Amino acid sequence: MKVLVALALIVSTSAILADSVVWTERELRVLQSFNLNNLGPAPYQPSNAYADNKDAAELGKKLFFDKRLSANGEFSCASCHLPEKHFTDGKPRAVGLKATGRNTMSIVGSAHQRWFYWDGRRDSLWSQALIPFEAPEEMGSSRTEVLKQIMTDPQLSQHYRRVFGEFPKGIDSAKLPDHAGPYADKKGKDSWNRLNPMRQRKINSAYANVGKAIAAYERTLEYAPTRFDRYLDELATGKKDSNVLNSEEKSGARLFIDAAKTQCLQCHNGPTFSNGDFHNIGTGNFSGEHLDFGRVFGLQAVLLDEFNCLGPFSDAAKGQCTELRFLKRNAHVPLEGSFKTPSLRNVSETAPYFHDGSKTTLESVIKHYNVPPDRKQVGAHELRKLELSVEEEKQLESFLRTLSD
Ligand code: HEC
Ligand code: HEC
Repeated sequence: MKVLVALALIVSTSAILADSVVWTERELRVLQSFNLNNLGPAPYQPSNAYADNKDAAELGKKLFFDKRLSANGEFSCASCHLPEKHFTDGKPRAVGLKATGRNTMSIVGSAHQRWFYWDGRRDSLWSQALIPFEAPEEMGSSRTEVLKQIMTDPQLSQHYRRVFGEFPKGIDSAKLPDHAGPYADKKGKDSWNRLNPMRQRKINSAYANVGKAIAAYERTLEYAPTRFDRYLDELATGKKDSNVLNSEEKSGARLFIDAAKTQCLQCHNGPTFSNGDFHNIGTGNFSGEHLDFGRVFGLQAVLLDEFNCLGPFSDAAKGQCTELRFLKRNAHVPLEGSFKTPSLRNVSETAPYFHDGSKTTLESVIKHYNVPPDRKQVGAHELRKLELSVEEEKQLESFLRTLSD
């Protein structure tokens, strides 16, 4: 053990002396675990039989950009998820028909996630896609309005039928109520409740297909290699070092994976830089304007969602819904105030940060980790004080900036 410590000292001293970095075997292994080459294709989605259907993805793309699917004709998914901003909007908290309480998440690479939204209240891209249409503060429409738009547009209706077959009998556009949906505004909810369960079910099954098409499109939005991936590729050829990264960026990478100095790796790991789980880093909002308890409600909601993997509109066999069936609360983590660990790919392009957009810069995010909030004020969380110097904070930031494509 002593020998190892001495060796590590020699290695790190030589790293400081020379301009290039000398990585240990262990460090090299950890570094390569981030390589985009290790990500592979998006995992199989048994609940969506159309996930890899190209024609469905083309339909989904049309729907994603179609403003007519909002109450006032002014919002599409792309109004908040702007392609040129890595599918975010640059705002602290999204604004649709009204102001929302959360920061817009990027959709790039989202097909690799297990749970969706900051609180994980949905278990698939397709069930997620059904929410914004009806959310009064986002697009303010309803499932019958969305279906009517599709049915009455000759192009969309033809495209839908080509992918999914005819609309269910008895729900043609003339017979559908104008504005009905269980999560819509009061008027929409009332007319939804007046429909008989049989019709509700038919409407839901056509509406689920809308989500499945959009998910097929989102699945095509893959991560692209970053400068950091290029550096890893060079190391993978057996090179000891390369100048694809400068020494500040390499020092930042070393800090990022140094479990004694920072905790980053504990939650931000693997090729997506996320463990896909929910963690409490002291960012919950337990009072004030943007009240947000995070995962604690997301966990209840995903189990109750009728569009989840185990529900009647899923294409999966029950046994295939392992994530949902074995969903357990992480007992050692305070769920109140836990949020999904976001990917750090493209992070320098997707400010502001955290679920509520409360941090404007990467610098302020790193300061949050260096000196985490006081537990007396924000309650229990998982962070410890890091004791990073100002220079080390800068190195970490420079490293994060290499993660953009
Ligand atoms: C008003 C802005 C707005 C609109 C419109 C909008 N979104 Fe979002 N989107 C958000 C916000 C904010 C979040 C995070 C919300 C939360 O966690 O509660 C989000 C989260 C998501 C996520 C989760 C990503 C992840 O990693 O968990 C996906 C996927 C997504 N949106 C797709 C869509 C689709 C598809 C549409 C159109 C049907 C859409 N969004 C419309 C603002 C918007
Ligand atoms: C205990 C788990 C955990 C650790 C340790 C951790 N993070 Fe995070 N990270 C999260 C969670 C959860 C969020 C989202 C919090 C929120 O939205 O309120 C986050 C958010 C971020 C963001 C903002 C991303 C965005 O899109 O909003 C950055 C940048 C970041 N972390 C970098 C780091 C760095 C650098 C370290 C090490 C110094 C680190 N994280 C350590 C879990 C963790």
